[in-house]
Amino acid sequence: MNALTPAWQIRVESPDDDARIEALNAESFGPGRFAKSAYRLREGVRPVAGLSFVAVENGILRGSVRFWPIRVGGHEELLLGPLAVESNQRGRGIGIGLMQAGIAAAQKGPWRGILLVGDEPYYAKVGFARLPPGRVKFPGPVDQDRILGLSLKAGELLTARAGEVSRTGGPGPHSGPVAEGGRVAQPVGRSAPGTD
Ligand SMILES: CC(C)(COP(=O)(O)OP(=O)(O)OC[C@H]1O[C@@H](n2cnc3c(N)ncnc32)[C@H](O)[C@@H]1OP(=O)(O)O)[C@@H](O)C(=O)NCCC(=O)NCCS
Repeated sequence: MNALTPAWQIRVESPDDDARIEALNAESFGPGRFAKSAYRLREGVRPVAGLSFVAVENGILRGSVRFWPIRVGGHEELLLGPLAVESNQRGRGIGIGLMQAGIAAAQKGPWRGILLVGDEPYYAKVGFARLPPGRVKFPGPVDQDRILGLSLKAGELLTARAGEVSRTGGPGPHSGPVAEGGRVAQPVGRSAPGTD
């Protein structure tokens, strides 16, 4: 391996990763993660199977990203988050790598776009941009400046549609192995870069 090759690798999350992802999210976001608006969208819903990735290095879990099904104006789209990287491993490109893996996988699916609530300067690195104020309405209070979107399909710009953002009906055909907010995983957290 040379200096340009990262030692960490990205793979699809498996049920065996649940406990470590849970611990990473707890460490990264603290108990406040359950109070955020985005958490209301994940509650009782499972992340999308095949779209949640982990970064591992020598058997150690370095980072995790999950994507959730949400409804935007009546159409199923994706919500990115939580995204977390071990505190002593940040700045190595792991967060960007995780998101790129998820976005590439999402581009093969039926969704038109991805939403998140987070810092635009960070998420712009993978193509997210701020949505016009009022374009989408989250349940509960959300800082409009932190609502970001990424179109997955050319000509179907998420920014062109308006709508209420709501939960999907619960575990369904896109469900993955882990119920965030239920038995295992728990998201939401401090209002730093990430998805609130
Ligand atoms: C946000 C987080 C996932 C980034 O992971 P990471 O692996 O360190 O990110 P990367 O190494 O891929 O990218 C680092 C780059 O992003 C920049 N960056 C990080 N956070 C940023 C922010 N809030 N705003 C702007 N840029 C940011 C870094 O300065 C760095 O830039 P550079 O490449 O020009 O030096 C990580 O810091 C983390 O887990 N934070 C706590 C949890 C959290 O807030 N998650 C947010 C989403 S839920």
